[in-house]
Amino acid sequence: MTEGLILALDQGTTSTRSILFDTPGLTPLAMAQQEIAQHYPGPGWVEHDPEELFQSSLATLRQAIARSGVAPKTIAAIGIANQRETVLVWDRASGQPLHRAIVWQDRRTAAACATLRQQGHAAAVEATTGLLIDPYFSATKIAWILDNVAGARHAAEHGRLAFGTVDSWLIWRLTSGRAHVTDATNAARSLLYDIQAGAWDPAMLALFRIPEQMLPEVRDCAAEFGTTDPAMLGAAIPIRGVAGDQQAATIGQACFRPGMVKATYGTGAFALLNTGDAPVRSQNRLLTTIAYQLDGKRTYALEGAIFVAGAAVQWLRDGLGLIGSAAESSRLAEAADPARRLYLVPAFVGLGVPHWDAEARGAIFGLTRDSGPADFARAALEATAFQTRDLLEAMHRDLAPSELAGGQAIEVLRADGGMAASDWTMQSLADMLDRPVDRPVVQETTALGAAYLAGLRSGLCPAPEDFAVQWRLQRRFTPALDPASREAAYAGWCDAVRRTLSRPG
Ligand code: G3P
Repeated sequence: MTEGLILALDQGTTSTRSILFDTPGLTPLAMAQQEIAQHYPGPGWVEHDPEELFQSSLATLRQAIARSGVAPKTIAAIGIANQRETVLVWDRASGQPLHRAIVWQDRRTAAACATLRQQGHAAAVEATTGLLIDPYFSATKIAWILDNVAGARHAAEHGRLAFGTVDSWLIWRLTSGRAHVTDATNAARSLLYDIQAGAWDPAMLALFRIPEQMLPEVRDCAAEFGTTDPAMLGAAIPIRGVAGDQQAATIGQACFRPGMVKATYGTGAFALLNTGDAPVRSQNRLLTTIAYQLDGKRTYALEGAIFVAGAAVQWLRDGLGLIGSAAESSRLAEAADPARRLYLVPAFVGLGVPHWDAEARGAIFGLTRDSGPADFARAALEATAFQTRDLLEAMHRDLAPSELAGGQAIEVLRADGGMAASDWTMQSLADMLDRPVDRPVVQETTALGAAYLAGLRSGLCPAPEDFAVQWRLQRRFTPALDPASREAAYAGWCDAVRRTLSRPG
């Protein structure tokens, strides 16, 4: 194995980070980060500026290189992980986006999705794509741009427009328009991709009215995605790894065996359970998705998506001004009186698994005259633990009849992401799940996964089984709450959610 450095780019919902790793150990050497501005042009609408997505990527890539002091030409490859489902449409000739990026959290197509469901398309969509008809995914957002920007649909039908998720857009820009590509995990989130055939699906394209000419070419996660224009980073560097951020974190957490599960606590929280080489169809409204594709071979996952996790803490800080920093939320939560129970259902952009209620909006239950910032902080952090339990219970119900784990329980959850830094949150998670929560040494698992993919392709990183051996536990959180308190708290949460749903069931 030769020596070499790998540069990982993690373009997420609220920030862009770049990390330089060595190989084969993948130790982080230098890092740079920038926040991303959120635009809310209407209730439930969320947009990003495409130029900012690119410029923050370029700037952090350059800063990480500069901080490490290495020469750009010593970097063997780049790996990219990205916020998934977010939609960009641009003009192939000018490179100009037609609209701001419509972010995965955006609910503007809720009515269009409801119509498609009423028309009876849900079963076919689920069978082909593993997904539900929900505004979360890309297809209805692409159609919205084609229907709302003058001349867009005509231009798309004549091959003049390109669609991409954030990975495609960044690669297009980094290669100065020479590559229009994506990987199988990002394609799998579009509602347009047949996850078993591994191809764009003509019936889905027709249903969502998306011209095929707009679509990027789909590659393995470890593949040749193009080479950066030397003007960008001071050298022509091949891009050799791409995965949606949650799939990249699954790889970074070395969840390579069926039955292993990770949850990443960022803006939202996403739990992925490796189900091996056959997709498991959920009976409990989880998503069936591609975990990764290596050497043309797909590994599948069951996924639970929580739309708001860290974003609730951000709301306490920026929306309400109740806390000065995210870190303060744990200190406050710790100080809260557990007897004064407040429930925050953070349905700011609807609810994901298992409710899929795009119209639900956030609610707080249990306010009393003496409720204060500490109770809010505790409620925001606990909401993440409650929602994770919702997901894991759904996974268990799906696994019981499947062959994958022979009905075995999920033994342990590997956790990462910004909120995983909070000991209080991790302990409350272990308490609520009644199973251990493992936090790894390298908590930048998303960037790590992207770096691994690029390193694998470059021959600098070992095969998955050997990479899994490198995974190191930093701390295990063991459940400590008595069953009666746990079940009473969870019952209160379930009741709060029931009262929050737009269609109480
Ligand atoms: O599906 C959306 C997800 O990819 C966003 O992840 O980490 O940017 O909240 P994150």
